[in-house]
Amino acid sequence: MQASPLLRAEGLVTHLFTDSGRVRAVDGVSLEVRAGEAVALVGESGCGKSMTALSLMRLVRPPGRILEGVVEFEGTPLLPLSDAEMRRLRGGRLAMIFQDPMTYLNPLMRVGAQIVEAIVLHQKVSAQAARTIALEALERVRIPAAATVLDYFPHQLSGGMRQRVLIAMAISSRPSLLIADEPTTALDVTVQAQIMQLLAEVRRALGSALLLITHDFGLVAEYCDRVYVMYAGQIVEEGSVFDVFERPRHPYTRALLRSTLGPDKRVASFTTIEGQPPSLIAPPRGCRFHPRCPEAMARCASESPPRFGLGVGVAARCWLHAGDAPAGREVAHG
Ligand SMILES: Nc1ncnc2c1ncn2[C@@H]1O[C@H](COP(=O)(O)OP(=O)(O)OP(=O)(O)O)[C@@H](O)[C@H]1O
Ligand SMILES: [Mg+2]
Repeated sequence: MQASPLLRAEGLVTHLFTDSGRVRAVDGVSLEVRAGEAVALVGESGCGKSMTALSLMRLVRPPGRILEGVVEFEGTPLLPLSDAEMRRLRGGRLAMIFQDPMTYLNPLMRVGAQIVEAIVLHQKVSAQAARTIALEALERVRIPAAATVLDYFPHQLSGGMRQRVLIAMAISSRPSLLIADEPTTALDVTVQAQIMQLLAEVRRALGSALLLITHDFGLVAEYCDRVYVMYAGQIVEEGSVFDVFERPRHPYTRALLRSTLGPDKRVASFTTIEGQPPSLIAPPRGCRFHPRCPEAMARCASESPPRFGLGVGVAARCWLHAGDAPAGREVAHG
């Protein structure tokens, strides 16, 4: 028997009620992360990755609203929790790192005071003990002269250093799950690699699981065990990283792989996928990918494909597999 997952989302629906219409940013997303594993959520810009992460953390703000679904973390359903209970969990057992550290650092507060505040909140230790934990965390993320950095304001640090500070804050509570939304996109290439390696290292040292959100298949290959591919608010394929790279089952995954990996499977901007991702206000009928799909069939334009299970942990939401497997639970919305 497989141990129950650390994080489980089932049929998650989060829409944004904007002046121009209802944006179906997350439209029936199911995924899970097991203890200690590194899972990627990958897809083009605007497909709903960040809204999914925010929904999992219950950080969705108006005009967005979680409408349906289940999110369970360590066996506890999160959607019914009070805001106070959610705050205790976030930054504790469940931590998140974002693309732009400045959004989550207070520019007017010294770095040390911010980390100490977070530690005191979650670990109920004295400020003195929290300072020691903060120093250890900064040293773990290899910030040179950590004691000095505690007295800096965020603007005195480089982008890479700020991201290290956020990682230090995230790991100071020894989370069982770290959700990282494009943690390196804003950084230059060398710093990107350093930060990703650091994340992998602290994750292994703490035994934390990672949900890495990215549009970069190169990072997926290098740092993750399993992958969920997202398109237009839905998960269209899932599997082990090895399996998905060797044998992508969804035409969108194949296109995405071709667009990011050169012939030798090294990351290169090779080709781009024809056409634009659809509007999430009025997504196409049937399969949302069908207008761009080189393998589209007649039924793809009218019937939304269900999730076809194609083996243990392998699934694709594509009519090409209708003959291969019994259809899974229908989680389509729209
Ligand atoms: N505050 C908002 N108001 C209106 N629409 C929004 C808002 N935030 C996100 N959206 C829309 O929701 C959809 C999903 O956005 P989301 O940020 O989750 O995409 P993403 O996959 O994270 O993209 P990226 O790779 O660019 O970060 C997009 O169509 C986006 O335009
Ligand atoms: Mg995003």
